[in-house]
Amino acid sequence: MNIVVLIFGTFLLGALIGLIYLLTRFHRFRPIKALAGKSRFLSWIAALVPVLLLVLLCVYDMINGVIAVIHLFVFWIFCDIAGYFIRRHRGAKEIRRYYEGMAAILITVVYLGIGLYADFHVWETDYQLTAGKELGMDRLRIVQITDSHIGSTFGGEGFAKHMARIQETDPDVIVITGDYVDDGTEKEDMVRSCQALGDMKSTYGTFFVFGNHDKGYMNYRNFTAQELRRELEKNHVRILEDEAVLLNDSFYIIGRKDRSERYGRASMEELVSPLDPSRYMVVLDHQPHDFAAQAEAGVDLVLCGHTHGGQMFPVGILGEVSGANEKTYGLKTTGTTNYIVSSGISDWEIIFKTGTFSEFCVIDITRG
Ligand SMILES: [Fe+2]
Repeated sequence: MNIVVLIFGTFLLGALIGLIYLLTRFHRFRPIKALAGKSRFLSWIAALVPVLLLVLLCVYDMINGVIAVIHLFVFWIFCDIAGYFIRRHRGAKEIRRYYEGMAAILITVVYLGIGLYADFHVWETDYQLTAGKELGMDRLRIVQITDSHIGSTFGGEGFAKHMARIQETDPDVIVITGDYVDDGTEKEDMVRSCQALGDMKSTYGTFFVFGNHDKGYMNYRNFTAQELRRELEKNHVRILEDEAVLLNDSFYIIGRKDRSERYGRASMEELVSPLDPSRYMVVLDHQPHDFAAQAEAGVDLVLCGHTHGGQMFPVGILGEVSGANEKTYGLKTTGTTNYIVSSGISDWEIIFKTGTFSEFCVIDITRG
């Protein structure tokens, strides 16, 4: 069975069980309990109202609705367990006020509210790395932008505002490491975003690799992959598909096709063997999934996205546990190879980031 179907089915089942649990819990609130004294039927109807509102939320936005229900369900169970022990410790025999329910609702609202903010707000994450090779300059500053999924948390204008902020970091190189657009991206947002990239100024230019969403899965968006390519190139964005460029006669940017490419892609060995190994090598690879080959090839820095930093605690770690990704977030070093996996500047479908946050990365490299 497809792993995505399995995960989605498990979440749906969890939400269904959660809704049944919540229906029984709403009965404990005083106004609904008071109704039960007059009419049990009416009290069930009253308890059903908030459950139906949650169902409506799931119908309106299935993924985020299910996420909200599951969080409420889990927090409610914890609060009920805590409440049971506290009441027992105090010797309370009767529940007068159902504090557990109130606490569960409050915790869920605050927790997901923080997750919403972490998803929509964009932080700058800085890395300082040292190179074992000559760079031909005192400091090389690379700015990495990944997983913008234009149209998710911002459209073309929003992307342009983020670019204006990124411009202030005074980059030497700007790299886009995939999932720039999505199936739901509107053409006008794609065009506006490409213009914003065209307005960016850096010493060596802007480089781009495709992610698994960029070429479109469903064929329902109103532009083609070819049109995206044309807009990028028109705005001086260099698309790299299993290609390397030497910049300043001192360092390479090697852009890989995504591992989801239908007709495969070049191996790391094939990409690196024609290059001068004494030069610093930066690899752009959307998915963090080829670390051993990258270390073996002797590249110095690998920049990835795709994972969204795990998106939600605790399920975010599943990608790493299942072997789909070799790292979920942050910096890892193997020998002389550094890997950075960014949580991305936006999201895909899920509007909460818990245990992670949206970001762009500013990576400074100096001679070690
Ligand atoms: Fe991706």
